[in-house]
Amino acid sequence: MNLEIIPTGAALGAEICCIDLSQPLGDNTFAEIEHAYDEYGVIFSRHQHITPEQQVAFTRRFGEIEFNIFGERWSVRGCPEIVVVSNITEDGKPIGVRRAGENWHSDMCYTARPPRGTILYAIEIPELQGLPLGDTEFASAAAAWDALPGRLRSCIEGRRAVFDFTGRKRAFPPTPEEIERNPPVRHPIVRTHPKTGRKCLYVMRDDCTGIEGVPAEEADALICALADHIVKPQFIYRHQWQPGDLLMWDNCTVQHRAIQDYDLPQRRLMHRTTMGGAVPV
Ligand code: SIN
Repeated sequence: MNLEIIPTGAALGAEICCIDLSQPLGDNTFAEIEHAYDEYGVIFSRHQHITPEQQVAFTRRFGEIEFNIFGERWSVRGCPEIVVVSNITEDGKPIGVRRAGENWHSDMCYTARPPRGTILYAIEIPELQGLPLGDTEFASAAAAWDALPGRLRSCIEGRRAVFDFTGRKRAFPPTPEEIERNPPVRHPIVRTHPKTGRKCLYVMRDDCTGIEGVPAEEADALICALADHIVKPQFIYRHQWQPGDLLMWDNCTVQHRAIQDYDLPQRRLMHRTTMGGAVPV
């Protein structure tokens, strides 16, 4: 299989062409895909036709699979590794998580070992007279770090922020048991990518509630300023989905948000898998 890797031209992202993910991948082909994933932060392949089992098998090539809170409520029957992301209802009940990731975030940053990455497979995409809706935006927190003034870099490097799960309240109401299972954690606000060694900012408005050693008011201002910096237009790639897209992002160097510009009868259905992660450094 001869892969073609076409950068999006934005600060991150590349399309991988000439690949069929329903077929087992040879080690060399997989190594090329993994390399592109580490380098570009977001990679995608169009026109895929894969089963839930094939998506799980592909995700496992990147290591352990992570199970997340959404999967406990909305997974594919017989495939607990797959979370259903959807606005569709059946018999009056949602078949998936509707408002996943509406605000800029990095997946499960409130855990001690945030996932390496996430994979979304698009099955149904909403549209308005042929215009696709429900895009996802991705921001390169690595390019954002590169663009920071040196003085600010040295002021924040080595600092750790508090990441608090209850910040997700706006996205979905967590149960008291879920809150207890996810106590606040601390991560470096400047992370180093474990494969490429690239540095990136790791700060989000909803999830970061403080910075160690910085007075609360000053920390709040810094969190907002850095979070806003990461999502400036020059660091963003906006993905316009087509059914059959399989897209994956790196949760260390990339933040993302789902654009909620559609509603029933416009249907959106995605299958999502999550890769296991490691303690951020
Ligand atoms: C997510 O944040 O995992 C969902 C992104 C999307 O549905 O576009």
